[in-house]
This record gives sequence, C-alpha cells and structure tokens, in this order.
Amino acid sequence: MSPVIKVDDMAFPTLQVPDLDLQEKFLIDFGLTRVARTDDTLYMRGDGPQAFVHVSKLGDQKFLGNAFYACSMEDMETLARTDAFGNIEELTSPGGGYVTSATDPDGIGVQVVFGIENRELESDLNAVELNVGGIERENFRRINQPKRFSKGAYPRIKRFAHCGLNVTDLEASLDWYNEHLGIIASDLLKPGGEGGPLFGIFSRCDRGAKLADHHSLFFLPAATQSNGKSGLNHVSYEMVDIDDVFMGHEILDKKGYEPEWGIGRHYQGSQIFDYWRSPFGQIHEHQTDGDVFDNTFPPQVVDVMLDGDPNNPEMGPSQWGPAINMETFGDERGL
Ligand SMILES: [Fe+2]
Repeated sequence: MSPVIKVDDMAFPTLQVPDLDLQEKFLIDFGLTRVARTDDTLYMRGDGPQAFVHVSKLGDQKFLGNAFYACSMEDMETLARTDAFGNIEELTSPGGGYVTSATDPDGIGVQVVFGIENRELESDLNAVELNVGGIERENFRRINQPKRFSKGAYPRIKRFAHCGLNVTDLEASLDWYNEHLGIIASDLLKPGGEGGPLFGIFSRCDRGAKLADHHSLFFLPAATQSNGKSGLNHVSYEMVDIDDVFMGHEILDKKGYEPEWGIGRHYQGSQIFDYWRSPFGQIHEHQTDGDVFDNTFPPQVVDVMLDGDPNNPEMGPSQWGPAINMETFGDERGL
C-alpha cells in the first residue's frame, strides 16, 4: 500500500519540561538561540534557515512529539482527510504556517507542518574545508587560509535532524509512520544477524532521488530501554562541522551538564556523535558527518553485536569512542 503522503524532513520536536528558565539556559549552552517565549512555550532556533527547531512547553516532564515538513499544501489536505489526522490549523508560532496533528501508536504526538517562513541567514553555513587524506598536499582544498574558531564560541547547529523513540511495538511504529508519512527502513537491528530478534529500526524520509539522512526516526523497544514506558529516547541536532561537536562538548562539560555518551562515531548513520542530558534528563545529541541516501538504497539487516572479543560479542553502536551504556541510554529518566 502506498503511503498517504511522503514527508520531506523533520521540523522540530516538542518537549514538556517543568522549568522553562532552566531549559532555556541548557538549550543556549547546547547551541540554540531563543526566538520567542510566552508564559508556557519556548521556541529556539539553530543557525540554519528554519524559524525554530526546538519547542518546550511548561508542564510535567514529557515528550509531546515530533513535527515533520510536508512537501505541499495538497499533501496537508490529503493527510487531514485521514482518520488519524485532524483539521488543518494555522500555526501561531514564529514564521506562521499550517499544521495537522495526530498521535502515533504509542500516543506520541505527530505534527505535519507546511508554510513556516524561513528566516534570512547571515551565513551559508558551509564548513571550512578539512585538509585531510590523500598523498599530495596539492589535493588539499584549504590553501593559504588558516582555520579559526572563536575560543569558547557556542557550537553552530544546522538543523533538527532526528529523534529516537522508545516504543511498545517496533514494527507497528514503522508501519504507522510508513503508512501516513512515507517513512522507510534504513537498518533493521538484529543481534546475531538475520534470524535474530528485532532490536531496533533506523528509518528515514522517502525523498525520492533527493538525499535523506540515514535516519530521521530511530525506534527502540520501550520494554528493554525504559521499563515498558514509551516516549523520548533522544533528540538529535546536526552541527555545521566536526569542530562544532567538539566545541559543544567542551562548553557543556565546563558548564557541568551530565554527559550521556560520546564523543564517538556511530556505525548506523556513521555520524560523529555526542549525547548530553538536559537538566531534566532528556537526551540531546550533537552530531555531524552522517550518511545520506536516496530512496533506492534498500533496508539493511545489521548485526549490532560488532564490537569486542568475537567470542564474547557486545553491543557495538560506536566505531570509535566510548561504549554505549545500555543501562542508561534512553532510560525512563529521559522520557
Ligand atoms: Fe542519534
């Protein structure tokens, strides 16, 4: 069955937190900038063109859901005609635009938006060239040009890139997001390989011939991660450059925030990653240099038991860098 629509990309997550002052302070240290704040809602932007890339609502800690970009107003109308989605409403958030809303099989919010006006950029956000690889220096691309970042500068965040969700039924979640939003599987995690139990699904937007991130949604089992309770595993932001990941790490470390995992390089998606806890325990990731695919790349079955002694394999989601702590990553505290 073909999907109702195919979304273009992730837009923003909405997190509910008990203290917007603390949340704003953390998000500034994380690299975001305040766009607007009301009594109960905080909108933060990155350095990219999007009007905002992170929304916080005041209330008991909870993950309210993700917003995705529709490709057209017709797609919004098509979606709004389904049983799952509601009527199209005008957004009152920065940049205006329209939204239609639903909840996924775990009750996690799903918004599909269109027509939010971008802001004007002062920079094209191109990374400064790396002088790496190759035999000849003549092949380098940064010539007669020193590389400089301001000491202690906040890291540059390009965009909201993906979200990890702890869900009660991995396949039911993928099916729902595929049916309504055209999300397709990139990697099916099966410890032990084909025939092993399904442990997680990395999935991406179907943008046809246009390139999509290796994953926009990552589904993990709530049963093993968060005592059966579904909700947020982590939100992830794409940085301009590798330096921004390391600069971000230095700032968050100096300010005394709680590291979760990193810096390392993933297998699935290949990003250089760095995960931090917000003051409320919700995990926020900085990452860069990820894989991109068009829609011809088929789903891969991946054995995640890749690291360590072959006689005593362990879960290996990093190519280099510290091992994941499966006891804490995506635990109940961060929902
Ligand atoms: Fe991630």
